[in-house]
Amino acid sequence: RPSAPAGRGPENHPAPDARDTTASLENLLNETRSFPPSPEFAAQANAQPELYEEARADRLAFWARQANDLVTWQTPFTETLDWSQAPVARWFADGTLNAAYNAVDRHVEAGLGDRVAIHFEGEPGDTRTVTYAELQRDVSRAANALAALGVETGDRVVIYLPMVVEAVVAMLACARIGAPHSVVFGGFSADALRSRIADAEAKLVITADGGYRRGAASALKPAVDEALAPKDGAEPTTVEHVLVVRRTGQDTAWTEGRDVWWHDALEAADTTHTPVWVEAEHPLFILYTSGTTGKPKGILHTTGGYLTQAAYTHRNVFDLKADTDVYWCTADIGWVTGHSYVVYGPLLNGATQVIYEGTPDSPHQGRWWEIVEKYRVSILYTAPTAIRACMKWGEEIPAKFDLSSLRVLGSVGEPSNPEAWTGYRRVIGGDRTPIVDTWWQTETGAIMISPLPGVTAAKPGSAQVPLPGIVADVVDDEARSVPNGGGGYLVLSEPWPSMLRGIWGDLERFKDTYWSRFPGIYFAGDGAKKDEDGDIWLLGRVDDVMNVSGHRLSTTEIESALVSHEIVAEAAVVGASDDLTGQAVVAFVILRGEHAGRASDADGAAAVQTELRNHVAKEIGPIAKPKRILVVPELPKTRSGKIMRRLLRDVAENRTVGDATTLADSSVMELISAGLQKPSSSDD
Ligand code: PRX
Repeated sequence: RPSAPAGRGPENHPAPDARDTTASLENLLNETRSFPPSPEFAAQANAQPELYEEARADRLAFWARQANDLVTWQTPFTETLDWSQAPVARWFADGTLNAAYNAVDRHVEAGLGDRVAIHFEGEPGDTRTVTYAELQRDVSRAANALAALGVETGDRVVIYLPMVVEAVVAMLACARIGAPHSVVFGGFSADALRSRIADAEAKLVITADGGYRRGAASALKPAVDEALAPKDGAEPTTVEHVLVVRRTGQDTAWTEGRDVWWHDALEAADTTHTPVWVEAEHPLFILYTSGTTGKPKGILHTTGGYLTQAAYTHRNVFDLKADTDVYWCTADIGWVTGHSYVVYGPLLNGATQVIYEGTPDSPHQGRWWEIVEKYRVSILYTAPTAIRACMKWGEEIPAKFDLSSLRVLGSVGEPSNPEAWTGYRRVIGGDRTPIVDTWWQTETGAIMISPLPGVTAAKPGSAQVPLPGIVADVVDDEARSVPNGGGGYLVLSEPWPSMLRGIWGDLERFKDTYWSRFPGIYFAGDGAKKDEDGDIWLLGRVDDVMNVSGHRLSTTEIESALVSHEIVAEAAVVGASDDLTGQAVVAFVILRGEHAGRASDADGAAAVQTELRNHVAKEIGPIAKPKRILVVPELPKTRSGKIMRRLLRDVAENRTVGDATTLADSSVMELISAGLQKPSSSDD
């Protein structure tokens, strides 16, 4: 048996999942089929095998060519990479450019103004078609409106919007004036929004009255009002104005002088705007993501390198043919996938794409496939969770729709189990389409490891190979490359154009988080293994980060949310494997003395669970709600006081509890197992 990744040192950082994943991986490797590209596809593909050779021969020259071919520079760059201040990279640093110009204007100048940029499909069924020329007008107007509200180059703008066209326009308008945007997913709570606004010291917030979800209008602006309201002990926010898109028409509280309607601001604004040319290393956006500590990290991305890699990967990994393809990435703009593969990658490449506001099952479970049929979508990029849900609902649902337009399928965000992969290809891809399982992170900015359609013979469940220009490896505890068949830690050994440039306002944390485990090498936080061919298989996180439905959640952040509730004395959170969502959040809590009796019967335990789940939703957002909350008398701790999450994960996954000899009190696990209420699952 190939060795599983070794422990990361402290009790909380072993690679526990690798044990089980490795076992199932072995079964699957035995029966792995690979899917070679069809000769027809290979002949027409954007990516050819020579791309690997070109990048291997001279990696920096390769990236310089991509930057020149795919991006329009106002001032050309002369130096490709400056790594002298590692780990802060500078790519194409003396070049100047503008992201919005590259995404929109240059296509209009090239005579493509009438090409559809966005087919928007609202959840209630309303639609809107936006051409590149219209997008240019809207983005220019919005840029003028932002400037009129006092937003200047370098000021931060927080965007808190549903998946509507205005979200794309808002991001591009910020980019146009060189104001870094920080998009906060609309499912995050007012508290989460407040801390992100404060950390970024934002000057403006762009939001909407609400959005549509599962057939109903839900409100969004109240969360902004709450996030901006004075709070005891908190500094007043730096926000001067709130720009509000009218999406649902619902009543909205209004703060005179601060709040401005988006449509009023745009109507008053000129339709032309000269983009602000910025240096390649000018910040393009900050995107907050969960880490191993309670405080989300503001991942910083800059302009030139990010755009280069977003455009390069989008073109080659999805084989985009801009004049014929209809592309659809189902991610929300609140996540990095929405940044790189809804906004910047596709628009830089002049793609026509679909944007859909709602959920896949509303008003019926065939909604996505109806959209594929309606717009003749040819490239679909989504997460394994969605595919698993679709398979669960039944193959007969997609079978009702004409999906013959699809020619490339993509997957991102979590390990894609081979069953889901093969189902995706057979049921959605008509046994015909290549599938690209793309591994990357908020921090990497763009896809890093993925098959290339037309080149790679795809193996279900594996991201397989670093893209041309990317150097990745799987290493052991001493940073030694493991042999084929071995497991370890996924690292990126050379800088790449779209790499994060830091954590906003915290250089030390940046160095410590990513560059200290293996000095000089980027540690991704994922366990991985190499198969006998040297292909990479992702095994999940080896730190305290969970992956629920492809969304990153921090165990510590949810623990902090739980202990902030008055009845909770202590909490420990683990990610337990889940058939549908990959992992599910399971929390173990100790109640404070005077409340300890509240969970003594099933009704009481259920009431406590509901109360605490709602509390987590309020503190962080509904996506962070634990699926199960178990009230326990004790938590398993080492002598140094660290919670042994590994043992709790055994309990949560109904396994025999593993080695507990390092516990300070070895009877604790018996106490926990004996005292557990029958696990009740979540109500949503
Ligand atoms: O654990 C890996 C998992 O998602 C993490 C990154 O999460 P986030 O920054 O939210 O970005 C998600 C979208 C890019 C990684 O550390 N992950 C992402 N893609 C894959 C994956 N795990 C396995 N296979 C993938 N294709």
